[in-house]
Amino acid sequence: MNTELLHAPADLARAATLLMQGELVAVPTETVYGLAADASNPDAVTKIFEAKQRPANHPLIVHLASAEHLSSWAKDIPERAWQLAAAFWPGPLTMLLAKADAVNSVVTGGKDTIGLRVPAHPALLQLLQQHQLAVAAPSANPHKKLSPTSAEQVLAGLDGKIAAVLDGGDCDVGLESTIVDLTSETVQVLRAGPISCEEISLVLGCEVSMPREHNVAVPGNVKAHYQPSKPLTILNSAELASRLRQRPADVICLYISDVFDAMALPHWQKLPTDKVAYAKQLYRSLFDADKAEGREIWLEQPPQLPNWADVNDRLKRAQHRG
Ligand code: TXA
Ligand code: MG
Repeated sequence: MNTELLHAPADLARAATLLMQGELVAVPTETVYGLAADASNPDAVTKIFEAKQRPANHPLIVHLASAEHLSSWAKDIPERAWQLAAAFWPGPLTMLLAKADAVNSVVTGGKDTIGLRVPAHPALLQLLQQHQLAVAAPSANPHKKLSPTSAEQVLAGLDGKIAAVLDGGDCDVGLESTIVDLTSETVQVLRAGPISCEEISLVLGCEVSMPREHNVAVPGNVKAHYQPSKPLTILNSAELASRLRQRPADVICLYISDVFDAMALPHWQKLPTDKVAYAKQLYRSLFDADKAEGREIWLEQPPQLPNWADVNDRLKRAQHRG
């Protein structure tokens, strides 16, 4: 299959046509690129699992044009969902709700819950609004690999396997959405993300918990995920400094502390100290490190602070071997 490279906003109509014909189109969101299929077309949604080599029991997030469409996809919607929608949509928050009876279970991996969000990327929003579409879209990467934050990264993993990619520029946020489970009495964040437990808690006026370990309710939260192809090792600043003193040859180093500036390593990249800028850059840097010459990646451990929870969560999974 020849994968078309489309540009937003000029080619939005072409992207919509392909989606309505049941084809897969990778689309930009504010978090990462998504691999989209018309969510009301089970045959199209099935293609997502084939293209990504994703197990069929891993549920997908459905992206809506606005919160008004919530009741077409979910039932027994609690007041909390409307409050969070008003506060954070369009934006990087996915809510788990009871799925509406009409929703085909291929979308939800056989579950009776559904993940829903309204994305904040203007091109995707326009596409969904103008063509009355809802799209099921996981991150547009082969299963377990790094999520793409540019059209170039999408093509690196899926060229020839999907009908098109809609280039909408680099993603602003750079890490996947926060997933919050609203299907039980207690509100739980299942995947840390750009919107924190504290922010959700402030809006709802109740406690919001975050499981310390990954939650089995989210199959994507497996230990090994978001992985570059080269082995990744996360080291604190002192360990990194001591290892670098041996002048290792084929290592790519990603660091944040100024002390490493002077080491003039053959392959290195400095990452921002600001959390938001770091998150935006991280997957691109790991992707570039994969392409660069070198056998493995050493990454300086970022701050272990609550607002870095999503970054540290992804890095832990990116490093996991086993
Ligand atoms: O930012 C994002 O969320 C991106 C963009 C494209 O929107 N999407 C994304 O999708 O990261 P994906 O499929 O790579 O990760 C979604 C996670 C998976 O771990 C999946 O298991 C979980 O959400 N999920 C979706 N629906 C669920 C459900 N009904 N129950 C439990 N987990 C669910
Ligand atoms: Mg993913």
